[in-house]
Amino acid sequence: MRKETILYVENVTVSFDGFLALKDLNFYMGYNELRVVIGPNGAGKSTMLDVICGRTRPVKGRVIFGKDELSITKMSEHGIVQLGIGRKFQTPSLFTNLPVHANFELSLRKKRGVFSTLFAKLTSEDDDKIHEILEMVGLVEKRHEMAGSLSHGEKQWVELGMVLSQDPQLLLLDEPVAGMSIEETDETAKIINRIAESLGNKSIVVIDHDMDFVEKIARKVSVLHDGTLLCEGTFKEVQRDERVIEKYLGRKKGKEEESKT
Ligand SMILES: Nc1ncnc2c1ncn2[C@@H]1O[C@H](COP(=O)(O)OP(=O)(O)OP(=O)(O)O)[C@@H](O)[C@H]1O
Ligand SMILES: [Mg+2]
Repeated sequence: MRKETILYVENVTVSFDGFLALKDLNFYMGYNELRVVIGPNGAGKSTMLDVICGRTRPVKGRVIFGKDELSITKMSEHGIVQLGIGRKFQTPSLFTNLPVHANFELSLRKKRGVFSTLFAKLTSEDDDKIHEILEMVGLVEKRHEMAGSLSHGEKQWVELGMVLSQDPQLLLLDEPVAGMSIEETDETAKIINRIAESLGNKSIVVIDHDMDFVEKIARKVSVLHDGTLLCEGTFKEVQRDERVIEKYLGRKKGKEEESKT
């Protein structure tokens, strides 16, 4: 029987010296799902991803992942990556002095952990896979360019492609459009929609504050506030939710208007 849930975050509490960044958080993800997570600064969004990746340990609760429903709560960060959870970090990790396609090749090999084959030829299957990812992130034309010579947005897409090359079952993206121009943000929405349409048994979590961007990619949206889940629904549903307006969107609007004057 095919299980429906790829990730269970159950009753997770995270304490930083007594400050509870997550409080009995429950969060579930289905297979083949793109989920957007929004919420005010300090809500605990990044902390939730840190727990899923094994970077931060909860004092309570558990995280269950994958078709074998393994508990990954105590697993090492590396073990979690190997199991199929990929995260794109904000800090650049690309090889600037290598062409785009070589960056993808390296991360494909890294996932396999086979440095002995570093100089072995890629199989034609690997080549197809890399081409598919180049298409996915819109960098076919730029595949021979040095990663370091690309624009900020393009570099972010290379990073995204590198995570995709590792073929994660669950992909975690924390503020993927931070620092991007409007055009780059629009292109990123298209890329994420392309990924979402070809997920199969995979899933993706996207955290962001940019509501124009969120609207373009949103299917189901989860709103975090004060370390717990405030509500879930479609973009329109959460936008209309009184609690979300009071705790997040209303304040956010006020802040944005303030910063314009
Ligand atoms: N390593 C840490 N030590 C102490 N406090 C932390 C640590 N990491 C996060 N926090 C605190 O936990 C709370 C949640 O932080 P988190 O980064 O998860 O929020 P967020 O929802 O991602 O916010 P933002 O939208 O600003 O990125 C915040 O109050 C933050 O200051
Ligand atoms: Mg954050």
